[in-house]
Amino acid sequence: MKITSFDEYKQVYQQSVEQPEEFWAGIAENFLWQKKWDNVLDWNFKEPKIKWFQGAKLNITENCLDRHLDTIGDKPAIIWEPNDPQEDHRILTYRQLHDKVCQFANVLKNNGAKKGDRICIYMPMIPELAIAVLACARIGAIHSVVFGGFSAQSIADRINDAECNIVITADGGFRGNKAIPLKSVIDDALVQCRSVKKVIVLTRSRTPVSMIKGRDVWWEDEVKKVETQGNPDCPAEVMDAEDMLFILYTSGSTGKPKGVVHTTGGYMVYTGYTFANVFQYNKGEVYFCTADIGWITGHSYIVYGPLSQGATTLMFEGVPTYPDAGRFWDIVDKFKVNILYTAPTAIRSLMSFGEEPLKGKDLSSLTKLGSVGEPINEEAWHWYDEKIGHGKCPIADTWWQTENGGLMISPICNVTPTKPGYATLPLPGVQPVLVDENGKVIEGNGVSGNLCIKFPWPGMLRTTYGDHERCRTTYFATYENMYFTGDGCLRDEDGYYRITGRVDDVLNVSGHRIGTAEVENAINMHSSVVESAVVGYPHDIKGQGVYAFVVCPNQHGDSELARKDITMTVARIIGAIAKPDKIQFVTGLPKTRSGKIMRRILRKIAEGETSNLGDTSTLLDPAVVEEIKAGAL
Ligand code: PRX
Repeated sequence: MKITSFDEYKQVYQQSVEQPEEFWAGIAENFLWQKKWDNVLDWNFKEPKIKWFQGAKLNITENCLDRHLDTIGDKPAIIWEPNDPQEDHRILTYRQLHDKVCQFANVLKNNGAKKGDRICIYMPMIPELAIAVLACARIGAIHSVVFGGFSAQSIADRINDAECNIVITADGGFRGNKAIPLKSVIDDALVQCRSVKKVIVLTRSRTPVSMIKGRDVWWEDEVKKVETQGNPDCPAEVMDAEDMLFILYTSGSTGKPKGVVHTTGGYMVYTGYTFANVFQYNKGEVYFCTADIGWITGHSYIVYGPLSQGATTLMFEGVPTYPDAGRFWDIVDKFKVNILYTAPTAIRSLMSFGEEPLKGKDLSSLTKLGSVGEPINEEAWHWYDEKIGHGKCPIADTWWQTENGGLMISPICNVTPTKPGYATLPLPGVQPVLVDENGKVIEGNGVSGNLCIKFPWPGMLRTTYGDHERCRTTYFATYENMYFTGDGCLRDEDGYYRITGRVDDVLNVSGHRIGTAEVENAINMHSSVVESAVVGYPHDIKGQGVYAFVVCPNQHGDSELARKDITMTVARIIGAIAKPDKIQFVTGLPKTRSGKIMRRILRKIAEGETSNLGDTSTLLDPAVVEEIKAGAL
């Protein structure tokens, strides 16, 4: 599947556009199917209807586990590094991982799980998280992983939206010097969730937890039961290519997060193909993706992509700055990591500690680097290139989204010439177009516009769970016959793509996607808040920070306590990741005569660009703007 030269890339790309079905059928031949497809692709972006490899039967875990047993069964599948460097690391070979997945799949079955059930997973970054994910896939249950930083309310919303009947969690988890009481958060969430019948709890932090009779069971006890039953194997459920594999919630510009739905066959082919190519994975290499499995990057490029390719994937429980800012480099040194895939926010944060944390760390094993989640500024790109890659590692700046399933626009390591700040060129099968506000396609180079994709790729979302119409209106209705990404983009004279950031009301804070409407709703829950408007502003480390303008009439003066109350409300409703960085109390928001908040003006004020606010003639009360400008933080 691997492309080995730039000329070959161009040829393959051409073929993938001219004969997409033949191209993807060829790629799909590299995977294990219980029955091959009758039809490669059936699609329209109107409804939308997207079906890849219809008629095919498979189980993705057979591709990620069983098919490797004869060849690399005793090679490491997962290397796990704990939060605390004093604790022992763990290595699971493909055989061990296979056995543990089968065992836990049987635990799920014993607890009533069946094909098609939705199972919520809220766990720390430990191997059992990957095991739980794969065990769901093994039996055909649909996993919905919720990142450990989300609040009880966010979990409850997600569980209720998908009507999950089982939750898999741990007593608690560790991140840096914090202990996170996962089970207790789940208990708070479940007060609102009637669909959940079972909670399976793994022991990790040994924090006291309340176990509810009939509902809550210990992971370890359930595994023992399976062991005494003597059924170590768990035959893989036969899935249709278009059966749902998972739901992953992500924020948009309006309303609550949507459950992005990925299906089995296309997602497997797409993540496997893009992983093998972009990182040019060679047998035996150690690959370290620093994401959390709670996000799409972890799903596709810690679990499914690497494992389907027989890679050794390194999972890290902690954070880059614990116990100090040299932690990533210690891990690279300790396990002789060859490929490192991380986020610009981590790079910028580590850069700010200078070179001290790099001293004495042997990074010579590194041969390829990746970046994901947000635009990478040139300074961070060069630091990554020089200090980490020592000028000899290609950097894959990978642009993609939760909805895409896998990498879309990215250099292929050692194949595509790179350029700082550029995601470079589309991968085979990806047909990007730039369009203007009216939906007119902008041809040629040296242009910018809104980024759309005009042809399906196997890893794309199929729907948003329980609400297909929302999927249509969000992604397929803005521009006819195109998938709209929500990103702005420029294509330079060489045809290289540079993503410039979201053009909608979605923020990217430390690589986390946050809807401004969601944060506003959370702020507005606070009893003394009348209304609020949230915008992003440039932040040195996080990329974007959250700036909230809050109307709070009984708030006299800028009291710190009121700010903390509001911040806590956001943490409680959404989670700590969405906390505003700045809160400015205002007496009113700039609105048009029809009552629409003029965010453009607030954005400029938040960015500190108050000299030119553009046309303010449609404002109902221009005096409000002067007041906000004067009080800007
Ligand atoms: O704005 C783009 C930005 O992250 C958004 C997708 O966020 P999410 O679904 O959470 O997935 C993140 C990880 C795949 C995009 O709409 N983004 C992602 N990668 C890049 C990027 N922006 C610029 N350059 C990138 N490499």
